[in-house]
Amino acid sequence: MSDLRELYQEVILDHNKSPRNFREMDDPSRTSEGVNPLCGDRIKVFVKLGEDGGIEDISFQGSGCAISKASASLMSSAVKGKSREEAEALFHRFQKLVTASLDALPDVEGLGKLAVFAGVREFPTRVKCAVLSWHALNAALRGDEQPVSTE
Ligand code: FES
Repeated sequence: MSDLRELYQEVILDHNKSPRNFREMDDPSRTSEGVNPLCGDRIKVFVKLGEDGGIEDISFQGSGCAISKASASLMSSAVKGKSREEAEALFHRFQKLVTASLDALPDVEGLGKLAVFAGVREFPTRVKCAVLSWHALNAALRGDEQPVSTE
């Protein structure tokens, strides 16, 4: 087993078992829900914006598979305290990471633990699980309160 694959499984197990920021938020500035129509799983994201428009706090709730839950946990940890532009840039980099060709070495510079999601490229059907909460975050930052689909 490659190091990346091993690390991928380790991180997914940890964040699925003990998800960070897994709670409802009392008075969020924005919320949005991501839906994966293939399985019916849903992840709702709560965002509190600071005076400067940055992400002061973020949390999530919902039911989803281990990958979607672990990804939401890592996503929330990665974007907390970031500006909106930084969070959007991370979303695009994450999407690129999980959909990149298996032949190429992924660009993981500055992605921290999110880099382990390069491992999901080996399981194309799980890519939507990995991006579910990110779509919800992106919709929340846009101010779109309608549920957003991964399709
Ligand atoms: Fe539903 Fe992963 S199987 S989000």
